Amino acid sequence: MVSQDFAFPAASPVRPPAPLDEAAVQESLRPFGSSRMLPRAAYVDPDVFAWEQKHFFGGGWMCAGRSSQTPAAGDMRAEPAGEGSVLIVRGDDGTLRAFANFCRHRGHELLPCGATAQAGVIICPYHSWTYGLTGNLRAAAGFKNRPGFDAGAWGLVELPMEEWHGLVFVAGSGTTGPLAGSLGTLDELIAPYEMGRLVVRGQHDYEVASNWKILTENYHECYHCPQIHPELCKVSPPKSGENYADPGTWVGGWMDLRDGMTTMSLDGTSRGVPLRNLDATGLRTVIYVNVFPNVLLSLHPDYVMTHRLTPLAADRTRIECTWAFAPEAVDAPGFDPGYAVDFWDITNQQDWHACESVQRGLTAPQAVPGPLSAEEDAVYQFVTMIARGYLGQPVWNTGSVTATPTAVG
Ligand code: FES
Ligand SMILES: [Fe+2]
Repeated sequence: MVSQDFAFPAASPVRPPAPLDEAAVQESLRPFGSSRMLPRAAYVDPDVFAWEQKHFFGGGWMCAGRSSQTPAAGDMRAEPAGEGSVLIVRGDDGTLRAFANFCRHRGHELLPCGATAQAGVIICPYHSWTYGLTGNLRAAAGFKNRPGFDAGAWGLVELPMEEWHGLVFVAGSGTTGPLAGSLGTLDELIAPYEMGRLVVRGQHDYEVASNWKILTENYHECYHCPQIHPELCKVSPPKSGENYADPGTWVGGWMDLRDGMTTMSLDGTSRGVPLRNLDATGLRTVIYVNVFPNVLLSLHPDYVMTHRLTPLAADRTRIECTWAFAPEAVDAPGFDPGYAVDFWDITNQQDWHACESVQRGLTAPQAVPGPLSAEEDAVYQFVTMIARGYLGQPVWNTGSVTATPTAVG
């Protein structure tokens, strides 16, 4: 239900183009082999960053964390989402809901970004307007007998939200169709990993002096692996595997494990348990997937590593990295996730170091977009998705307007 008192921005399936030179963006869309990387401004210009926050992070589905972060009724947390932030709340009915994180009185944040709380109601810290867990306004001091004041018109603004394999996706725009409509065959590909069943047993939070796209582009190629990842190359041949060419707002591929290696760890052995539904191929490969715009899933035979990116500025990104294992692995006496966490922490730091250097390099006014090697076809897929978005073309499936923000009445 949409309150009469709250005007949503007009829904439009077409976004305005990004503040970039169109001819330069078109260079990224040339056929693979003759294309160029995105214009330098895409990585350093605050105006482009602001456009991306509005249209990529606030204009469609973005990952706002995991369902397991708010397991019980009354659990709530706030996360950045594009230009604003989102309040995620588990209701008494067990349902997870997402609200724009502002009070309907004078706009105070209901919870600071990054904070968590547990309560039976949502109380604004400024003048104590109090909302139920479903977003309805329950109390507003001094308004009770005010003629013409209809509490039903002043509920929180609920945002479209979907839980997908244990992850929480929120859409800040009313022009985005269902998440599944944008992900095509990805659902099928990752289903055997049963991500919603896995238990997080390791987390590292990084802040990296690099544009979010440089981090994602780096994730999509192993052309750099022989130079900077000796530990990785010991367990996985850098030239192994292929990339997927399926449609949807995701990009990904897989790599093989070397003979005798059972997972990505410093010695190639696992201290966990293989995920129960994987076939012979799943036990010999690692799948790397980026769900646009901000989550990277690395699916191993015995654990799933998730990078969730939060852009802070054109040259700064927060990364929450988690490692999740089968319940039967974490329940085993003496289980230690270090074999996975330590391997990837070393590898992550090598990547962040390289990405920060790319950011500094691209800051040079003389920097111009370079070409891509044959091993960077997934980078090409990502860059072309971004470039089409910059030109105002659809990124998510915008065929049906089913996901619409509504004010709770
Ligand atoms: S701004 Fe929330 S109660 Fe006033
Ligand atoms: Fe890397």
